[in-house]
Amino acid sequence: MLKIVVMVSGGGTNLQAIIDGVRDGKIMNTQIAGVISNNRNAYALKRAEENGIPSCCVSPKDYESREIFNGKLMEAVDSYEPDLIVLAGFLVVIPPEMIEKYRNRMINIHPSLIPSFCGKGFYGLKVHEAALERGVKVVGATVHFVDEGTDTGPIILQKAVEVQQGDTPEVLQRRVMEQAEWIILPRAIDLIAGGKVRVEGRKTVISE
Ligand code: GAR
Repeated sequence: MLKIVVMVSGGGTNLQAIIDGVRDGKIMNTQIAGVISNNRNAYALKRAEENGIPSCCVSPKDYESREIFNGKLMEAVDSYEPDLIVLAGFLVVIPPEMIEKYRNRMINIHPSLIPSFCGKGFYGLKVHEAALERGVKVVGATVHFVDEGTDTGPIILQKAVEVQQGDTPEVLQRRVMEQAEWIILPRAIDLIAGGKVRVEGRKTVISE
């Protein structure tokens, strides 16, 4: 059984896709051990509560320094003894010691086709604003392992989505979630739970 911790900051629609995936059998052999938010008001926490999943909030605002916050965040993660950490819209910089400890055991969903529209400053709606501003015709989402860089770790899955005439950032964001994120994030967890994802250098090899 793969024990996962899901880290969130906002609405938690990706968390919901994981909860639904576990319930519907699209994600096999997986248990959501806990949900951690940096934001007390995140709707994602409500989703956890409604589904009987243990959760907690660790906010940088509650601590005097980043070091103390990082320590508390690590403690919270470790307390669930996860096999895999899933960053599902978690918008806080991950402490370096956590990246080291959970190397190849922490994944992130990013709302673009990496290496486009990723890296520092590209998160949430900003990604879709930048894509529309550049006029690309195809966008998408990526699930990748987390390393020391921003959105630079080995890519696990990607899915493309077409831009349509008249798209606003909000409309495009929703389409990318529906047609890509909510599909590839549960699928990536299922593949990892099934032992089908191997990291080889900068890449992953998937055995379906
Ligand atoms: C998602 O679109 C996710 O890809 C993005 O935040 C949103 C969270 O939505 N993550 C990033 O931009 C990370 N760089 P949710 O809370 O409804 O899942």
